Amino acid sequence: MPKLGVNIDHVATLRQVRRTFEPDPVAAAILCQLAGAEGIVVHLREDRRHIQDRDLDILKAVIRIKLNLEMAATEEMVAVACRIKPDQATLVPEKREEITTEGGLDVLSQKDSLGKTVGRLKKAGVIVSLFIDPDPEQIRASAQVGADAVELHTGEYANAGGEKLSEELAKLKDGVKLAKGLNLAVHAGHGLTYQNVCKVAAIKEIEELNIGHTIISRAVLVGLDKAVREMQALIKHKR
Ligand code: PXP
Repeated sequence: MPKLGVNIDHVATLRQVRRTFEPDPVAAAILCQLAGAEGIVVHLREDRRHIQDRDLDILKAVIRIKLNLEMAATEEMVAVACRIKPDQATLVPEKREEITTEGGLDVLSQKDSLGKTVGRLKKAGVIVSLFIDPDPEQIRASAQVGADAVELHTGEYANAGGEKLSEELAKLKDGVKLAKGLNLAVHAGHGLTYQNVCKVAAIKEIEELNIGHTIISRAVLVGLDKAVREMQALIKHKR
């Protein structure tokens, strides 16, 4: 069975729109844990657009399920990870101007530097996963730099329709086999929704699915009825 890691970045996005205290991603993480999630995923971005350092400190102290820190392979972030010691670090490419992580990490072109980063994180006791496209060259390079796991980018699959959908699914399946054969643990994520997740969840060797936007989006909608009723009860009660 794949384990579910819930990415709570967009709870923090909503808080940062007002620079206020709510909704608190830490509270969201605890609710995810109570609901049976096996992991919490947060991306501490260089520009701190959503998750803040304070969130990471408190998450590390309070959650009892896997804490998976998505991070760029920079000096600053390696220092944060070595201090916080999340259970897992997932190295992702990061561009300031992007809306969300676009494409996987190019491991092949930076094997030396990534090898050093992976080594430093592993020495700190952190499991290292590399977020890559399901590309055989990138998978082989990930094994060569000493990663424990790869997270295969499901964005192309999620965006595909028609014949392209089966092509992208086949690429994912082949990637999973190759990675497994190289002794890498296999995770997957990005762009998965309630509509497209089943075919990926059915791939036996995938150990972990990391899902964010669609869960937080649904939470807003399924929670709205209750939230409006609670406000109505409060204001009507005053007369
Ligand atoms: N995995 C990685 C490496 C990501 O960067 C993201 C997005 O932050 C996700 C999974 C989750 O993607 P989504 O929000 O589209 O479910």
